[in-house]
Amino acid sequence: MRGSNRGMSLFRTIGIATAALMAILTAGGTQAQNAAKPDPAKVEAGENVYNDYCQTCHGQNLVSTGQTFDLRKLKPEERERFLRAVLMGKGQMPPWKGVLEDAQIDAVWAYVMSRGG
Ligand code: HEC
Repeated sequence: MRGSNRGMSLFRTIGIATAALMAILTAGGTQAQNAAKPDPAKVEAGENVYNDYCQTCHGQNLVSTGQTFDLRKLKPEERERFLRAVLMGKGQMPPWKGVLEDAQIDAVWAYVMSRGG
């Protein structure tokens, strides 16, 4: 009797552990997918913002003509650097804070990451 009870609870523990592991794996998988492949709708929105506000200086399709920083050089871990430069401006580049909404800047980042990184 005691033996079979113990067996049951062990079985339940494994069940819970498996569920927890599955949840972690699923969450991790989604995150990895996001990093590699940004949301296409967001990338497209970012491309539009880029074409309207950034392209004149940073070049068509993110390809810099050499006068400005080539945004494709930005690495995924340089999001902070990107945000700081875009919000505060840098050198000849004006600050975009107040001109663009956070969501628009975030979309441009997704666009940049879809091309470079
Ligand atoms: C008026 C021209 C101009 C426009 C428009 C412009 N930039 Fe720039 N941008 C520059 C120049 C010039 C630099 C190089 C600044 C420097 O290093 O002195 C630069 C640099 C950058 C950098 C790199 C900063 C670093 O860390 O070295 C980022 C990121 C950037 N721009 C993003 C953007 C985004 C996003 C937009 C559109 C919202 C945009 N820029 C629009 C001229 C422009």
